[in-house]
Amino acid sequence: MSPAPRVLAIESSCDETACAVVKGLYVQSSQVASQIKVHAKFGGVVPELASRHHLSAIVPVVERALEQADVSLAQLDGLAVTDGPGLAGALLVGVQMARGLAAATGLPLHGIHHMEGHVFSPFLGDGDEAPTAFEPHVALLVSGGHTEIVHVAAFGDYRMLGATRDDAAGEAYDKVAKMLGLGYPGGPVIDRLAAEGNPKAYAFPRAMMTRRDNLEFSFSGLKTAVLVTLERGGQPQSRAALADICASFQAAVVEVLVTKALRACTSVGCKLLHVVGGVSANRGLRASLATRAAKLGVRTRVPKLRYCGDNAAMIGAAAAYRMAHGSVPHVDVNTSRSLDEVGPGDSSIVADTNEPGGAR
Ligand code: KG4
Ligand code: ZN
Repeated sequence: MSPAPRVLAIESSCDETACAVVKGLYVQSSQVASQIKVHAKFGGVVPELASRHHLSAIVPVVERALEQADVSLAQLDGLAVTDGPGLAGALLVGVQMARGLAAATGLPLHGIHHMEGHVFSPFLGDGDEAPTAFEPHVALLVSGGHTEIVHVAAFGDYRMLGATRDDAAGEAYDKVAKMLGLGYPGGPVIDRLAAEGNPKAYAFPRAMMTRRDNLEFSFSGLKTAVLVTLERGGQPQSRAALADICASFQAAVVEVLVTKALRACTSVGCKLLHVVGGVSANRGLRASLATRAAKLGVRTRVPKLRYCGDNAAMIGAAAAYRMAHGSVPHVDVNTSRSLDEVGPGDSSIVADTNEPGGAR
């Protein structure tokens, strides 16, 4: 394998404009310009506004990432950009910036699947901390747009074990927060309030739990159950009442996520579980995961908090791995491609049978 390539990566799939410089799995700089304030008053991301704000943020964010890493474009080995899934107009801002940089420098440009980036996030090292070595694992991917369980036999080798039939877990958090007038994004504020409330105050539904081999999710019924509770009882009139709804909602989400992820570990005989994506920052989820996984002898790993949400370091790390393994640079903007479509069947990966997990 060639030495770890130094890659400048851009991420603009949703509401964060991000740029990072990585050397393999080691993060040399990571800049994230969040648009949370822009979208907060609408209770969710407004695609047209997201594109416009990416346009004004992208150049300064790239400049800051180069400055923080103290490198010039001439010192890079490659470029990376998220090419899907995500909002079309938002993705295109990052992709066009990256194409411009590629044309100006002649550097290879690798398009990376956003969720593959999240898979790389727990391995990132920075500062005095070295990156984590790869081990096969089950990954629970929980973000605003996705809730999936994937068996990661090797980087680039992803097998989908289960996914949501309707809403993603993060989306349920955001919608419930909107119903409760808590603003956007819903995850962090519900997580904080949940810690003060009674998780048993309301018996909210846990979908598709009875069949022991079921690894799918559904959160739309839970969302409706919260709505019906509010329609019947009205908006909570005290912080304690609000906290009880948040705690009961979070308990339902967490129980389903942890149960299904651990089921998946048992079904593939894997003793390592990663939880990645924006929702992996959730304190209730982290606590329940640690306790329940330990009982089954399953080790768990979550990303550092700064790499749970969208960032470009994870995109750069995925591209650096692909570069080191002979992947042919290509960008294919696709707003809805599934992660297992970039797995072993990806024609851009050139077989490298000398590496463990390299033959694909
Ligand atoms: O991965 P991410 O930053 O963007 C997407 O790829 O979607 O995830 C964003 C999602 C949002 O739905 C947000 O509410 C949720 O992650 N989130 C959380 C927490 N922090 C962010 N959900 C639950 N608890 C949190 N602490
Ligand atoms: Zn994400």
